[in-house]
Amino acid sequence: MKQLLIFFISFLLLTLLQTVSASEDPIIAKGKQLSQTCVGCHGPTGIAPDPSRANLKGQHELYLVNQMKAFKAGTRKDPTKVMNMMMLPLSEEDMKAIARYYNSLGN
Ligand code: HEC
Repeated sequence: MKQLLIFFISFLLLTLLQTVSASEDPIIAKGKQLSQTCVGCHGPTGIAPDPSRANLKGQHELYLVNQMKAFKAGTRKDPTKVMNMMMLPLSEEDMKAIARYYNSLGN
């Protein structure tokens, strides 16, 4: 009886642990952290308060990565050049994490 109880509790704990780790994808967490410098223009939920700036929430990951790479490379220029400068310190891996984070915020 005692063994059965221990088995049952371990099972419950394992299920709980799996639920927690699934909701905390480390790449999304990294993207969220890196996006702190974007919040001022693209909003805390990826919806830009100013209509001259893009909404990023729910956007396709590939599209976001492609735009970020183009800004960094200078093949896409934004009128104020701010996006070109914002991308300079980011690696492709950083961009993928940011893209996954904004995509995960849904539509
Ligand atoms: C000072 C304001 C500002 C900051 C800070 C900023 N952005 Fe932007 N972002 C803009 C503007 C303005 C545009 C639209 C540029 C254009 O008109 O081409 C833009 C466009 C984008 C786009 C293209 C969206 C599309 O639909 O094509 C992406 C992706 C993006 N920003 C990501 C980021 C990320 C990631 C950060 C933080 C690392 C960031 N931005 C920080 C102002 C900003």
